[in-house]
Amino acid sequence: MGMTLMIYYSLEGNTEFAAQTAAQYADIDLERLIPEKEPPKKGFRKFMWGGRSVVFGETPPLAPLKYSADDYDDLIIGFPVWASSYPPAIATYIKEHPFTGKRVRIIACSAGGNCEKAVKKLKEKLPDNRFGEVLSLQDPAREKEKSAGLIKEFIAGIDQ
Ligand SMILES: Cc1cc2nc3c(=O)[nH]c(=O)nc-3n(C[C@H](O)[C@H](O)[C@H](O)COP(=O)(O)O)c2cc1C
Repeated sequence: MGMTLMIYYSLEGNTEFAAQTAAQYADIDLERLIPEKEPPKKGFRKFMWGGRSVVFGETPPLAPLKYSADDYDDLIIGFPVWASSYPPAIATYIKEHPFTGKRVRIIACSAGGNCEKAVKKLKEKLPDNRFGEVLSLQDPAREKEKSAGLIKEFIAGIDQ
C-alpha cells in the first residue's frame, strides 16, 4: 500500500496524466473515479452537459472503488476545473465516502490556469481536514515535459 492516496477524476486525460506522472515520483496509490455514465467527450456538448451537472449539484453514481481513504493519512485530490468548481464525480465521492482528519493536497487542471474558486469550494466541502499545497496545471497533457517538471517539483515538496 502506498503512503498517499490520490483520488481523482479526469474526463479528457489531463488529470489522468498528472496522476500517472505523480505516481512515478512517489509512493502514491491512484483511485480514478469513473462515473457510471460519462458525458459526451467531444465538442461543445460536453461543456453544456458538464456545466449543468455542476450547477445542479449532481452526484452521479461511481463505478466501484479500489481503495479506502480510511487507510491513508495523506490524500491528493485531483480534478479538472468545471464551471469554476470541482466536477460532480468528486462531489459524489465526498458525499458517499466522507473523511476527516486527513492532510489534503490538491492538483487542479484547467484550461485557463485559474483554479482558485474551485479550490475554495472544495475546501469548504471538506471542513475537518488540513490542507497542504495546491498545484494548478494548465491542460498538462498538452505540454507533457513541462508539466512533468512541475508535478515532480510538487511531489518532491510534499515528500519532506
Ligand atoms: C464541463 C467543463 C467545464 C469546464 N470549465 C472550466 C472552467 O470553468 N475554467 C477553466 O479554466 N477550464 C474549464 N474547463 C477545462 C478543463 O478544466 C481543462 O481542460 C482540464 O485540463 C481538463 O482536465 P481532464 O482532461 O482531466 O478532464 C472545463 C471543461 C469541461 C469539460
